[in-house]
Amino acid sequence: MFLTVFFLLVALCTQGGNGKESEEAQRPGHVSVVIVGGTGDLAKKYLWQGFFQLYINQVSSGNTFSFYGGGQSPTEKATPVLFEILKAVSCSKDVSQERCALLKDQFLRLAQYRQLKSLEDYQDLAKHIEQQLQEEGMTEAGRLFYLSVPAFAYADIAEKINSSCRPKSGAWLRVVLEKPFGHDYRSAQVLASQLRSSLTEEEMYRIDHYLGKQVVSKILPFRIQNKNLLDPIWNKHHIERVEIVLKETLDVKGRIAFYDQYGVIRDVLQNHLTEVMTLLTMRLPKNVSRSEEVLGNKLQILSSMLPLGKNQAVIGQYQTYKAEVQQELNKTKDHVSHTPTFAAVLAQIDDAQYEGMPILLISGKMLDERVGYARILFKNDIFCVQNHNNVHCKPKQIVFYFGHGSLQYPAILVSKNLFKPALVDSEWKEVTEHKDINVFGLPISDFYIQTPMEQKEAYAELISHIFFGRKNSFISTENLLASWDLWTPLLSSLASTFPRIYPGGADNADVLDIHLKGKDISYNNEVVIISTDQLGGTSTNGFQVMQGKFRSSEMVSAWAEQLVDKLAADIQEAAEAAIYEGGVFHLALSGGSTPLALFHRLVDHHFTFPWRNTHVWMVDERCVLPTELESNFRSLHDHLLQHVRIPYYNIHPMPVHLNQRLCVEEDGGAQMYEKQLIKLVNSSSFHFVLLGVGYDGHTASLFPGGKVDELGDSLVALTESPSKPHQRMSLTFNVINRARKVALLVMGKGKHELITQLSRVKDNPDKWPVTGVKPTNGNLVWYIDYDALLG
Ligand code: BG6
Repeated sequence: MFLTVFFLLVALCTQGGNGKESEEAQRPGHVSVVIVGGTGDLAKKYLWQGFFQLYINQVSSGNTFSFYGGGQSPTEKATPVLFEILKAVSCSKDVSQERCALLKDQFLRLAQYRQLKSLEDYQDLAKHIEQQLQEEGMTEAGRLFYLSVPAFAYADIAEKINSSCRPKSGAWLRVVLEKPFGHDYRSAQVLASQLRSSLTEEEMYRIDHYLGKQVVSKILPFRIQNKNLLDPIWNKHHIERVEIVLKETLDVKGRIAFYDQYGVIRDVLQNHLTEVMTLLTMRLPKNVSRSEEVLGNKLQILSSMLPLGKNQAVIGQYQTYKAEVQQELNKTKDHVSHTPTFAAVLAQIDDAQYEGMPILLISGKMLDERVGYARILFKNDIFCVQNHNNVHCKPKQIVFYFGHGSLQYPAILVSKNLFKPALVDSEWKEVTEHKDINVFGLPISDFYIQTPMEQKEAYAELISHIFFGRKNSFISTENLLASWDLWTPLLSSLASTFPRIYPGGADNADVLDIHLKGKDISYNNEVVIISTDQLGGTSTNGFQVMQGKFRSSEMVSAWAEQLVDKLAADIQEAAEAAIYEGGVFHLALSGGSTPLALFHRLVDHHFTFPWRNTHVWMVDERCVLPTELESNFRSLHDHLLQHVRIPYYNIHPMPVHLNQRLCVEEDGGAQMYEKQLIKLVNSSSFHFVLLGVGYDGHTASLFPGGKVDELGDSLVALTESPSKPHQRMSLTFNVINRARKVALLVMGKGKHELITQLSRVKDNPDKWPVTGVKPTNGNLVWYIDYDALLG
């Protein structure tokens, strides 16, 4: 049957087919294509169509084909399923209807389903291929196995192929793999070494479908063709920044079992966006078709990236993700997932050409539009005094537009004030008729635009590259590991970071906007935004500025930096309100390292803070000289007081050093402080008291077992700490609980255990002193960062 089909096709296809590729084809002969997972989603959507396209293009090249859809199901059950899929393949516009019908008929006859489960199944397949070759007297060109199965099955299948399905020498073996190629550096390395025991590097084709996208595959040719114009400006001096973006509107419903393990960084940034980044920044190869050189230059860029850490990324999660996880993974209502569905990462290359040039990699689900692009924004040193619409006043950019978005087609755009680029390929055309659309806020007529004459599917392109053995369109083991080497430390540092929650679609507004500052990236919007249901609080609209409850009091929670920003803003608000009401603001501050970030925030950002009318008191002090590093006053002085314009008579250090000795009862330091505060602070009621909590549950210098009730009515007392320096002076609950506002600031992973315990225990100030903080008429707010709250 094969022979008949072959002759029929040769006759038919001398009328058409794409001769261009066959020039490069290797020794012609018979090719067996096996799609393992041949009735799965990917095969159904793209692979069979891609192989049909290959068949149409190659049928007149002297090659013959047989196609096998492999799977776990028994043949009788899966055969009709496969044929339903195959019936749906279609021809491109340039193939006549009649020819298409004939080709399709042949393709269907050349295809069959085979159960591929056990080693015997693979042995049978090999026997079948050899028998066919013999019967038809055909020379074998090669065997192509496309593994469209979950990655955990790769090593086992590769081993079966190796032991039973290798062709005789002279014919090639190519095994195609789909991501994920591991979960991090280590797992990728394990998988790579398992595969290497069955397959050679030459035989492995790791697919990244972005490399098959028409625009992505033209990045290098574009750079080469316009080399003379680009060379002088393709560097840190001229490029303002590079943005590589994939925005999607869909959620991940239906794929959560996979997605929740991976998240957007592993799903998109580590592979698709990283590949685009390397194509944009790698040294140009002398010959784009020399795989070794292309892959080597990519590796060089990957190896010169600056390490990525927590400050180089922001992550988000769309609001309904949590409920989707609970439903699809059968989790309870209190299950919280840290998996990001949005990420923005700031990458930089540590070399002379690009040093300091920001490269933004951004992707997310449930965003406002579906669009993918890589945009090189150049610096514009022209200042327009009057007409800002003049072309030279506009931003200068080159955009590799992958598709969708406002343009709706793949294209390369170059600002008209930059240069007119050469056509990247004879199969591309210039777009001269413009619809009335804007790209990045500019009319489309501001750009030179080129686009492929015919849009082609990425998978079809890559399948053709596999057939021709063009390894530069695939991911080598070395490059894969280099990419994981870059991403793994960032992934680990984000492992327990809670992503910012975003509502999804247009409602995201500016919630995910990003701010670049040197080597760091942060969300631009400082307001703490989390959903109330995430934290079990109550909400009127399900999405608002901070909320939640902790030990029945109000709670504000956010990432450390945002939490501190919020607390500083709240203190300033309290100060302004108090001064408006009574002309003075009494603020009591605690010691330790936790509030330092708050002090810095007040110093660096709150230039309008009314320090002149603020009195600063101390919550507690260690019995050491104020010159000692351990002194709370010294720390307060060094980090806050010396940097702000506060009158010295508004500063109230605790008198721990009297009569040249430290904290001696008879010297009456505590009573002195008490008198001072009774005299100056109306009803001994501070406007704002900032407290922290220690690992043992102490607050101020009130420690477990400190018998707080024995302190009587005193407002200030000498206390004992279990750790050094043991002697302390502290405000007591009598005054703390008289305050108008008390803030309890808790930050850092180290406090997670404590926060968990505190969320469970009843009030017991003797054991857990912090549970004694209960303002009588005032308001207690817990400020807990995500690290402390979620661990
Ligand atoms: C896939 C990711 O690799 O790429 C998906 O797993 C993502 O989550 C997709 O949606 C994007 O590809 P494209 O071709 O639609 O831009």
